[in-house]
Amino acid sequence: MASSHKDLVVLGIETSCDDTAASVVRREGDGGCRILSDEVWTDHGDHAAFGGVVPEIAARSHVERLDVTIEKAIRASGLSFDDIDAVAATAGPGLVGGVMVGLTTAKAICLAHSKPLLAVNHLEGHALSARMTEVAAFPYLLLLISGGHTQLIWVAGLGDYRRLGTTIDDAAGEAFDKTAKLLGLGQPGGPRIEAAAVKGRADRYDFPKPLARRAGCDFSFSGLKTAVREAAQSMAAPSQADIADIAASFQFAAARHLAQRTERAMEMAEGEPRRLVVAGGVAANGVVKSMLGSICERKDWALIAPPIKYCTDNGAMIAWAGAERLAAGMAPPIAEVLALAPRARWPLAPPPEGAEIGGGRKGPKA
Ligand code: KG4
Ligand code: ZN
Repeated sequence: MASSHKDLVVLGIETSCDDTAASVVRREGDGGCRILSDEVWTDHGDHAAFGGVVPEIAARSHVERLDVTIEKAIRASGLSFDDIDAVAATAGPGLVGGVMVGLTTAKAICLAHSKPLLAVNHLEGHALSARMTEVAAFPYLLLLISGGHTQLIWVAGLGDYRRLGTTIDDAAGEAFDKTAKLLGLGQPGGPRIEAAAVKGRADRYDFPKPLARRAGCDFSFSGLKTAVREAAQSMAAPSQADIADIAASFQFAAARHLAQRTERAMEMAEGEPRRLVVAGGVAANGVVKSMLGSICERKDWALIAPPIKYCTDNGAMIAWAGAERLAAGMAPPIAEVLALAPRARWPLAPPPEGAEIGGGRKGPKA
């Protein structure tokens, strides 16, 4: 595989969910990363009345905001289109209307400015994002916990991924979001649950341990969701304190589930370098992070957690994944990328043989 030793500047575009994001990133010849600009437009308000992301609203707002967001990212980087070596855009998986807006815009920029185009898998963006700000040499174990995905992936190298586990129903973030909705806490659910849980008792409810007797490291959140609903419905008029207790007990059970399955994956990776990278919005959760930290300490693994702004969806991770591919000589001919259609589903790694099909709002069930 060819490898570039010169600096490469890439514009990244991310539109796979409700965040409209663009960023300019420089990959230095020695593999270092400089994020020159990082613009993101998020407006949960537009979706709030519906209790979740509405694909049609998201696609329309990408159309309205993407050009301005790209312009801001270019301006903030202090560079011009002429200084950019390539454009990278999320081509899936995700809400297809939004992906279409980002990918089509990227195609137009590349045609107008004669630049290479990289169609990036959003999951690869998350998988490589820690390498922008942390020392995270290949290989490592990745725990990706977002609103659309919950996966344990062995990242052997660039483009070389092996899936060890996935959710068989909801994604972790989706479980936080649905629980918040059920408890009337509003959206985005994860931060609302975390805030409500601060004043709650995590030991009031003994919520189930999903898949406790099942081998492997798949995840499941639907049983937890049912248990939360039953707890909430067991009271005629739950008080603020009751809601805080349910939120805290749910958060504890969800974090324990994530930590226990990750521990199994660590055992499967025996003999490999002991590095765990976390990515995705749920990695922002303090209880999740501290449980993963305890396991890593006990098993003598390094826990690599990038700053939260790079854990959640962002344009920099897409630019960076594009830059890593470009540096490795993996940019396909422009005609090939121009012919690419956006993909609602695009697994990063094939499921292990005999594994169940995973879910999540951007997963195969979507
Ligand atoms: O990675 P991300 O920004 O977007 C997706 O690709 O889905 O993740 C968003 C998800 C949402 O489900 C949100 O509720 C969850 O991450 N999240 C959290 C927290 N902050 C965001 N979940 C638990 N605790 C948090 N503090
Ligand atoms: Zn994401």
